[in-house]
Amino acid sequence: MAVLQETLRMYPSVIGIPKMLNTQEDTIIPCSERGPYGQTQLFVPKGTHMSIDVQSLHHDPDYWPEPEVFKPDRFLTTTPDDVSREAFIPFSAGARSCVGQKFAQVEIVAILVNLCRSYRIKILPKDDVKGETREERQTRLLRNVSRLTSTPLNLGLAFEKR
Ligand code: HEM
Repeated sequence: MAVLQETLRMYPSVIGIPKMLNTQEDTIIPCSERGPYGQTQLFVPKGTHMSIDVQSLHHDPDYWPEPEVFKPDRFLTTTPDDVSREAFIPFSAGARSCVGQKFAQVEIVAILVNLCRSYRIKILPKDDVKGETREERQTRLLRNVSRLTSTPLNLGLAFEKR
């Protein structure tokens, strides 16, 4: 589960969550003092359309030390007051968060287990570059583009039946 969570942190399937302030009144949203402008409040006029930037939040070094490093251990040590818990929102949060979250988590783990049991999964040899260090290779292969969702750019996989 920690591996799945760390994957969804680094590569969230939903990179931005659109919201509209559908109230009669303007509102004020409290902000972290660690925000880029040092603001503790954000004034939001009624009717404002906004998007919660999941991709950026999941890579914010204030919450995730070494955000570009794949470290599932982060999810094994969370304590109830750990800020990272609130900064992890692949399924959004609150009353309108994803109703399929639990189902999706069980489904993803089940699919992964079945794939790994039935296939040897390898990176296509054509994608190897001579003389590259392990870190350089990892960075190159995991490079991704974020549009509607995040998609790997250079990663070709071969599935070989066991
Ligand atoms: C990796 C898989 C999935 C991810 C990352 C995901 C993520 C999300 C996100 C970010 C939202 C937006 C919540 C908001 O607006 O605040 C959402 C909403 C929703 N999701 Fe998922 N979802 C996943 C799988 C599923 C599955 C498998 C189902 C159904 C079986 C599902 C059903 C829904 C529904 C019905 C909503 C609308 C909830 C509402 O507006 O009250 N999702 N999901």
